[in-house]
Amino acid sequence: MKQLRVAVLGMGYVGLTSGIAFAKHGIRSICTTTTPGKAENLNNGVPPFYEPGLEELLKEMVNEGMLSGSSDNVDAVRQSDITFICVGTPPLQDGSADLSAIEATARDIGVALRDMDNYHVVVAKSTIPPGTTENLILPTVEKYAGKKVGENFGLCMNPEFLRQGSAVYDVINPDRIVIGEYDEKSGDVLEYIYRDYDCPKIRCEIRAAELIKYAANSLLATKISFANEFSRICEKFNVDVYEVMKGVGLDFRINPRFLNAGCGFGGSCFPKDVNAIAALSKKIGVETPLLDSVLYTNELQPMHFVELIKNAAGSLEGKVVAFLGLSFKPNTGDTRETRALPIIEKLYEMGARVKAYDPKAIENFKLSTDLPIEYFEKWEEALRGADLAVVQSDWKEIRDITADDFKRLLRNPIVVDGRRTYDPEELINNGVKYLGIGWKNRLNLARP
Ligand code: UDX
Repeated sequence: MKQLRVAVLGMGYVGLTSGIAFAKHGIRSICTTTTPGKAENLNNGVPPFYEPGLEELLKEMVNEGMLSGSSDNVDAVRQSDITFICVGTPPLQDGSADLSAIEATARDIGVALRDMDNYHVVVAKSTIPPGTTENLILPTVEKYAGKKVGENFGLCMNPEFLRQGSAVYDVINPDRIVIGEYDEKSGDVLEYIYRDYDCPKIRCEIRAAELIKYAANSLLATKISFANEFSRICEKFNVDVYEVMKGVGLDFRINPRFLNAGCGFGGSCFPKDVNAIAALSKKIGVETPLLDSVLYTNELQPMHFVELIKNAAGSLEGKVVAFLGLSFKPNTGDTRETRALPIIEKLYEMGARVKAYDPKAIENFKLSTDLPIEYFEKWEEALRGADLAVVQSDWKEIRDITADDFKRLLRNPIVVDGRRTYDPEELINNGVKYLGIGWKNRLNLARP
């Protein structure tokens, strides 16, 4: 087969990192966007968001002529053999996915295919409810192209499993590639694109591929909510939930990952996708008590964390809380569904004030609240003079703060840890009062 070229429609985490990964694997890629200025920035080597390793690799691929940005979907498709749809599917009010951007890009692809002679494969990569590829993308492309799927163009669904914070690595080195195919020919072309990727490749029906993504995210979210529920049980028994989950995770049928208890999961995927599949299932008459509980536990957990903070402070009235970590997890500036927001809102409701620190997420967080939070780019400044410290995301910068730092800067050396950022014993033995999710807080509270 000849050297194929790829168009990637959408320049978010999935689109841009996919484009870069294809380029890195020797496939020339054009990434498109509807946001003014974003394509020009890409062509000048400037990434639209922070992600470890992104800027360096983006510059390298642009300089080598393997990657370019464009604002013209139709033109990008015309220059390519395969088009990946990677636009956003944000949640609507009722929890279901907004598919308007998917439809718009399908229309652009159809318009482009109308005058093209070569066989083209359309690939849906965005997370979309089961049925969307066949019931929305397929008819829209056919209508605007005036062509028939299976004859003039192929169709696949190829979910993406990257994690923010390690997106570049994950997309270049996936643990599996799922190829949902309309027919064998479409799947063959997509598998050819991935021929250099060293991982298992699964070929299946399009709707199965769509569901694999929802099922995988739902199971990971379930593991977290499970560990979080046990964290509250463990606290009552004065047992360390991390010790318990270590013993659980060593069972090879379970595995230790995603059993880290904390103040809840956030991000652009777990809350949105679990909500979307639960809402969609109910619409078609399937009850989802398990998924509903996973989401409910995720609302309970940050409120339980606030209770721990209150217990540590005595009362929150008039207290100044140094809040460490605003992003939904370390190594990203993304604050979508971050647990920081419900926690901080509750702290204010209970009479506290917040001095917040985050290495990358301050600007994004400011857009989500008008509360009079003081923001700091140095953790020392957030800690200085505060009554206690609270950790919501465990950035390395935050993990590196020592017992001496807490003792030097806080009015009272108290740390309430929502992510098991520190070794509790180490802080306690060095004179810091430590409370944390799933930790033996009662014992610790009893200490002088
Ligand atoms: C997730 C999936 O991991 C990824 O496969 C999918 O493509 C998109 O959604 P992401 O949202 O980037 O990726 O981050 P992830 O590392 O999964 O963390 C999500 C949230 O769960 C974070 O708030 C994190 O703090 C929390 N989490 C994760 C836990 O509370 N405990 C854990 O053990 C793991």
